[in-house]
Amino acid sequence: MDLYEYQAKDLFHAHGVPVLPGRVVTTSTQARAAAAELGGTVVVKAQVKTGGRGKAGGVQLAATPERAQRTAAAILGMDIRGHTVHRVLVTPACDIVAEYYLSFLLDRTHRRFLAMASVQGGMDIEEVAARTPGALAKVPVDPISGVDAAKATEIVQAAAFPAEVAPAVAEVVRKLWEVFRAEDATLVEVNPLVRDSQGSIIALDAKVTLDDSARFRHPERAELADSAGLNPLEARARARHLNYVKLDGQVGIIGNGAGLVMSTLDVVARAGRAYGGIRPANFLDIGGGADAQVMADGLDIILGDPDVHSVFVNVFGGITACDQVATGIVQALGILGDAAAKPLVVRLDGNNVTEGRRILAQAAHPLVTMVDTMDAAADKAAELAALTCAKGA
Ligand SMILES: Nc1ncnc2c1ncn2[C@@H]1O[C@H](COP(=O)(O)OP(=O)(O)OP(=O)(O)O)[C@@H](O)[C@H]1O
Ligand SMILES: [Mg+2]
Repeated sequence: MDLYEYQAKDLFHAHGVPVLPGRVVTTSTQARAAAAELGGTVVVKAQVKTGGRGKAGGVQLAATPERAQRTAAAILGMDIRGHTVHRVLVTPACDIVAEYYLSFLLDRTHRRFLAMASVQGGMDIEEVAARTPGALAKVPVDPISGVDAAKATEIVQAAAFPAEVAPAVAEVVRKLWEVFRAEDATLVEVNPLVRDSQGSIIALDAKVTLDDSARFRHPERAELADSAGLNPLEARARARHLNYVKLDGQVGIIGNGAGLVMSTLDVVARAGRAYGGIRPANFLDIGGGADAQVMADGLDIILGDPDVHSVFVNVFGGITACDQVATGIVQALGILGDAAAKPLVVRLDGNNVTEGRRILAQAAHPLVTMVDTMDAAADKAAELAALTCAKGA
């Protein structure tokens, strides 16, 4: 999960990384009040989860509260790389003497962490790395030993920070590592980290990506989740711990195993071409070992999607054999009752397939069509979706 700058700065502050005070507001009148409260020249910053805000005009100085109001009015509602600005951060203007770059990230390729630092901050760091590769220091960080004072000094030296700021920057490096470690982040980035005219080192920008797999270790974080940005079906699926992604087609998809579900999306999209461009409506992996309740939860989400006109259940029996899956589908339809009102195409194969198909045949649910192969089932599901779409259902 990516955080907004103001949320990232709250975490920085909690771990002692120096940041400027700020107020997050949603209206220009509030921005004016915030600027008056902070006093002096302020910077109004668009809060969107994308970079390049400065270049897009989403970061602007305002010398008076009146100007802050006007600036906020211009920035609120702005579209920055497809993100609408709903909030701005009002923060004191900083008297910048030098701009640096600092980050920690998860280096998946080498199975460890990586520190990156540069005395050429402020601009696009990718640009710096491409133009002058030597200007971006990359220092591997061992996950067990982490960053102590010696490691912080090594990072600062690798980036050749000037001697007069090196000790202060090393201190920030250690605290930034604490943010990364204690908060279970996969990225913390400061661009720019600045030196002001007083000689203080301050994080003027903050970017943090938290590791969603560590969410259970941070119950205090529930309020950080940006549910406003989540599709309601995705929010419901998440509440039931289902691996679901909403797409824009008409055929609801349920399968077991991410690979199988990905292939199912492909075959449905291909089959759908013959029916005027019918496409998959979602990705849903119910995983191995799914019981009747998980199948019912999955079907419930998919049948509740008004875009769905038919459902393709594609299961390859493994640890959970086909007979258990078939029983699960029959029970799920029982649980859902009248809520199950769209045609279902079921393809079962794998462990105990004969028994699985027998159970479905015996149940003879009026909405269920059994098809033996994946391609034929995809074709049937696309055909049924096209049919009900055409009826205006
Ligand atoms: N409080 C501040 N006082 C003075 N200047 C600031 C302040 N905050 C940001 N800036 C200036 O604006 C620039 C862009 O701000 P910031 O880094 O927060 O946004 P960004 O989304 O990363 O923008 P970009 O990708 O265009 O650099 C900074 O490099 C800095 O020069
Ligand atoms: Mg920045």
